[in-house]
Amino acid sequence: MNEIIRNIKTDFSNQLANARTLEDLEQVRIQFLGRNGALSELTKQMRELSPEEKRVVGPLLMNVKEEIQQAFDNAHAQLLDAQARFEKEKQRNFDVTASRRPSLEGSLHVYTQIIQKLEDIFISMGYRVVDGPEVEADYYNFEALNIPSDHPARDMQDTFWLNIPGMLLRTQTSNVQIHTMEKDHAPLAIVSPGRVYRNEARDASHEFMFMQLECLYIDKNVSMANLLYTTQTFLEAVFEKETKIRVRPSYFPFVEPGVEIDASCPFCKSGCAKCKFSTWIELLGAGLVHPHVLRAGGIDPEVYSGFAFGMGIDRLAMIKHDIDDVRHFKSNKMAFLEQF
Ligand code: PHE
Repeated sequence: MNEIIRNIKTDFSNQLANARTLEDLEQVRIQFLGRNGALSELTKQMRELSPEEKRVVGPLLMNVKEEIQQAFDNAHAQLLDAQARFEKEKQRNFDVTASRRPSLEGSLHVYTQIIQKLEDIFISMGYRVVDGPEVEADYYNFEALNIPSDHPARDMQDTFWLNIPGMLLRTQTSNVQIHTMEKDHAPLAIVSPGRVYRNEARDASHEFMFMQLECLYIDKNVSMANLLYTTQTFLEAVFEKETKIRVRPSYFPFVEPGVEIDASCPFCKSGCAKCKFSTWIELLGAGLVHPHVLRAGGIDPEVYSGFAFGMGIDRLAMIKHDIDDVRHFKSNKMAFLEQF
């Protein structure tokens, strides 16, 4: 019996010395002081001893119980104390300037950023933002825009035709013009950013899918002056600097007269690589809405007139952010995307 008690004592000391946490300690408690622990076991065994033996072993057992309980309580208190000190120390040494592992941060795509900016500008001028379908009927993309099926202007925009007869992927956001006139009638002032598709070979300045922004304003007495004022005002807001515009005659079947509008190069005064040494940047197709188009939209051209323009958003973003290849926008390359 003596021997057993001694073994329990050494065993307990060893385990106690190895207990590092409160959980470790709890395990030790269960093993030695618990209801089925080593000491209870011993007490049970004692019942089988003779009265003489009990008289000798009894006090021994009492002693060892007390000793073990005492040692355990001490260790427990010490550990609690150490933990409290550790927590306090941790708080005291908490370093708000400590560096953290760098994490990957997302950002809005350049498209989204520039579209949000354009929308803000136009909303501040009283325009509404509308959406239009990308899968479109010939009628809205061409026919109602004064481009009948035999019109050579169809060749200006190589079209992705769908297997469904008369259906296509819109080649321009101008399809929104007719939808909006049909729905809202006149007067109206809308902008509509979105994807357009053209069946073209890709290169640094051509994509088969790109972004346009369409603007349409219809009211009584709308003239070329309204168009020029509006384009100059919004271009200055986009480039955040004084910007001149230049107007050249051009042709689009859905406007009359038709023009192209260039902005003075935001980078130079006397010519640079970005404006191809011309000091001008071609940006938009525009004009006064053709009477045929107004009529197709259910609006009386004797009462109302309007202007419309369409602009390549990719091109605008490329100029604004000095991007050299339109294909970057959809490349999904982190090195490109992270810059914005
Ligand atoms: N839709 C024309 C294009 O894609 C641009 C345009 C819009 C021209 C509105 C005039 C008026 O080229």
